Amino acid sequence: MPVHFSILLIEPPGIDSQLINLMLAPENFHVSAAECGTEAWNLIQESEPPDLVVIDIDLPVSGQIRIGGNQLLQLLGKKSGWCDVPKIILTTSQNSSIPKQLPVSQIEAIILKPYDPRRFMEEIYGSLSKHLDRHIQEVNRQHIHLASLIQELSTLSSKASEKNAFHQKLKAFLEFTSHHFAFEEKFMCQHNYPDFSTHHQNHNQLLTETNTLVSEIVSGSRPIQPKTVDLLKRDFFDDVSDDERYITFLKKVRTDLMR
Ligand SMILES: [Fe+2]
Ligand SMILES: [Fe+2]
Repeated sequence: MPVHFSILLIEPPGIDSQLINLMLAPENFHVSAAECGTEAWNLIQESEPPDLVVIDIDLPVSGQIRIGGNQLLQLLGKKSGWCDVPKIILTTSQNSSIPKQLPVSQIEAIILKPYDPRRFMEEIYGSLSKHLDRHIQEVNRQHIHLASLIQELSTLSSKASEKNAFHQKLKAFLEFTSHHFAFEEKFMCQHNYPDFSTHHQNHNQLLTETNTLVSEIVSGSRPIQPKTVDLLKRDFFDDVSDDERYITFLKKVRTDLMR
């Protein structure tokens, strides 16, 4: 099953919209389309954030709720989950001050119409490639955070007076592990990662083991000692080891995009 990327195209109907759909159709992209700001905003309310938004800044303003291209970008800039989605802007305006007027930082490219289709596709591939990079960096950042929590647990485990602090840190570790697994799985699922099912099962098993361990420690049936923290460390390294395959897969997808 091919890797799956989702793109939201906000462009009025016409030759440009047809051309973009034609260019994106042979790729492994799932394109959702909206023809004006209001339709786009309604679609955004009920959809998961895509991998990329392509927006014509010169959208026609129509209907009772009038939302233009700039306004839509402002709304997206404030919307949780959507503000960090990379955006490619299409415009007919030569006005170089457009970027300064925009409130969002995630503008990957501004493409002036009429444009070269090859340049357009290069921007699409480049934006998706950076999107993958950011995901990989975030997975690594979360691993570093989990590793530092384990380190702190290890330090606390050797001090009998720090029992409460140990329990609190343990709770934080469990919560972040659960958040981290959900974060990875969401991206895997949305992009048709071929080993998703196995990875998900391993996550579930690790989470069950960690949960049991935490319950035993909190109830007092398992003593707090460095050896106990080693068990948490073992589960964490099991995930990191599984993730190596996942990251290798993402890097290959990124390389294929840039070919
Ligand atoms: Fe992980
Ligand atoms: Fe994982």
